Amino acid sequence: MNILITGADGQLGKELVRIFHENGDSVQPYNKQQLDITDFNRIKVLLSKEKPDLIINAAAYTKVDLCEERLGEAYLINAIGPYYLAREAKEKDIKLFHISTDYVFSGNRLIPYKEEDITEPQTIYGKSKRLGEELVLNICKDATIVRTSWLYGYGGENFVNTIIKMSDNLEQIRVVDDQHGCPTYTKDLGIAIKHLIEKPPGIYHVTNSGNCSWYEFAIEIIKILKKPTKIIPISTKEYGMKTPRPFYSVLSNKKLSDNQIALRNWKEGLFEYLKRECAFKDGN
Ligand SMILES: NC(=O)c1ccc[n+]([C@@H]2O[C@H](COP(=O)([O-])OP(=O)(O)OC[C@H]3O[C@@H](n4cnc5c(N)ncnc54)[C@H](OP(=O)(O)O)[C@@H]3O)[C@@H](O)[C@H]2O)c1
Repeated sequence: MNILITGADGQLGKELVRIFHENGDSVQPYNKQQLDITDFNRIKVLLSKEKPDLIINAAAYTKVDLCEERLGEAYLINAIGPYYLAREAKEKDIKLFHISTDYVFSGNRLIPYKEEDITEPQTIYGKSKRLGEELVLNICKDATIVRTSWLYGYGGENFVNTIIKMSDNLEQIRVVDDQHGCPTYTKDLGIAIKHLIEKPPGIYHVTNSGNCSWYEFAIEIIKILKKPTKIIPISTKEYGMKTPRPFYSVLSNKKLSDNQIALRNWKEGLFEYLKRECAFKDGN
């Protein structure tokens, strides 16, 4: 299969390139410099030239706090860019996968969110991502939207890498204990996306199984790395976040498992990530 991947230098983009390359597909990775998804003419010309069977849009403006200040940029990249891709995908009969987020939900409840649950984003990031989903689905009825959460992977600015860096310099780290979600390893998400190509289109929630608080996530990282750093639980209020975060953004993977796709528990994914990407050796 001929697959064009946007946002190919991002943490998910990199992993998708690796997975589809290893799968023997013809992969065309495009980073932001090579394909800015807000440049409609560039998309048009490139898709006519490359003629992919599938586009996976892993490009996004993911800096949640900055989205509040740079609203125009957030909507342009998270909503208008996906709209341009969908227009050309529809025109050229190309299958489109678009990646989205748990932030489309409010996070003000305590049961896992299903695909059909009402969205109620609380931030510009969440609102711009939700608009992106709607525009894609309005144009490409057979597009697949993959919502994921708490993503970490190689080279990303993510929670795992932040805790590793902080634990090198600090004796203790204060971490929020009243927000719950599903940590998701880019490798596991990428493999699930590969399997989803064979499944019916629509919205899918794809995360590692199980859930935890950021505090529990940090404890597990430190435990696996056998670091002496002390993790201190604090509330969101004590932490004083600029932009609100969902208190509960656990996504239900039932539709995924009904389609015979299951992701391992987040602790197993984390263990492999630390071993594979951070040169941590089991038993050290
Ligand atoms: N990270 C998470 O915790 C998380 C959670 C849930 C869902 N998601 C979703 O998962 C997807 C992948 O996220 P990620 O964590 O891999 O993000 P990421 O590491 O920030 O990667 C996004 C990539 O998109 C690029 N990009 C930005 N603007 C672009 C444009 N106009 N045209 C083309 N590329 C552009 C970025 O380049 P620059 O870095 O140079 O700007 C970056 O390489 C996104 O849809 C995100 O919303 C992420």
